[in-house]
Amino acid sequence: MNRRSTCRALLAAALAWGLGSPARAQPRPVRVVELGRLERVGAEASFTFAGEPAYLLRVAPPERPSSRVQRLGEIFLVAFSRTCTHQGCTVPLPDQRGIMECNCHGSQFRADGTLLRGPASTDLRAIRLELRQGEVWAVGWLEG
Ligand code: FES
Repeated sequence: MNRRSTCRALLAAALAWGLGSPARAQPRPVRVVELGRLERVGAEASFTFAGEPAYLLRVAPPERPSSRVQRLGEIFLVAFSRTCTHQGCTVPLPDQRGIMECNCHGSQFRADGTLLRGPASTDLRAIRLELRQGEVWAVGWLEG
């Protein structure tokens, strides 16, 4: 094996292990809010996760199973990045209608981060939450 093929083999091995793959990289966990401050449905918190503006909302128990709604203790939460999935603008917080409308090209998202209207074609990226000693933490991306 010569030097060039050795380099290729090392690069292939690194990619196989997911090194340098942003889809597999998990950001540093961050504390979001004390669970006790989310007393009612509609309680919210803004935070930064992985360098992106993010939003957490307490929601009612879902009528159907949802991959985005997470149960922590006795309450249900959604959390997601506010980076628009169209071209990366920051989506404003929900308005009085409960809609987040991107100022750049008009994509609309529901307050749970799901896509309502394009040009974006996917939901806002959901964040996985954990309860740690009475505090809600954002710990990773919620895939799928
Ligand atoms: S960046 Fe949000 S709609 Fe284009």
